Amino acid sequence: MISDMRADATSKRTLSSLYDRIGGEGATRALVEAFYDIVETEPRAEILNILHLRGHGVAHSRIEQFRFLSGFLGGPRLYVERYGHSDVRKMHEHVEISAEARDTWLECMNMAIDKVGISSDAKSELMRHFTRVANMLVNHD
Ligand code: HEM
Repeated sequence: MISDMRADATSKRTLSSLYDRIGGEGATRALVEAFYDIVETEPRAEILNILHLRGHGVAHSRIEQFRFLSGFLGGPRLYVERYGHSDVRKMHEHVEISAEARDTWLECMNMAIDKVGISSDAKSELMRHFTRVANMLVNHD
């Protein structure tokens, strides 16, 4: 009986997306805003701010990152619907990403997650996904 209940609880958890678990659209938007606020204001994040200024600017990334993360976390696939792909490597082809920039990105995201108040379970899962993608994006010494 107990093992049946455990199996049931586990399958329910797997079925609900990370997007729903963190609080859906509102929380995803709050996370994106908190992240880019940190990028724009934290002295330690200067390397990221400079990279964004070389591209389309932080305001642009706030919009596109929200669209992307919505689908990435299992919610509405806003980025794919608009651009027909969600190839993160392609999105960063023109960006020089060093190991230092990757570590700073992950550090800022870690701070943003704490700022919006996401549960520690969901936080570890989020950071696991972000770390996997960030590692894939390093393209520069
Ligand atoms: C590893 C460190 C990373 C660095 C240094 C970085 C840097 C950047 C920069 C500079 C831009 C703006 C490009 C432009 O305006 O031309 C950008 C855009 C973006 N980044 Fe990253 N990024 C990193 C990791 C990630 C990760 C882990 C994700 C997703 C989980 C991500 C998702 C995005 C998205 C969705 C955009 C907007 C793409 C678009 O404009 O269509 N980035 N990133």
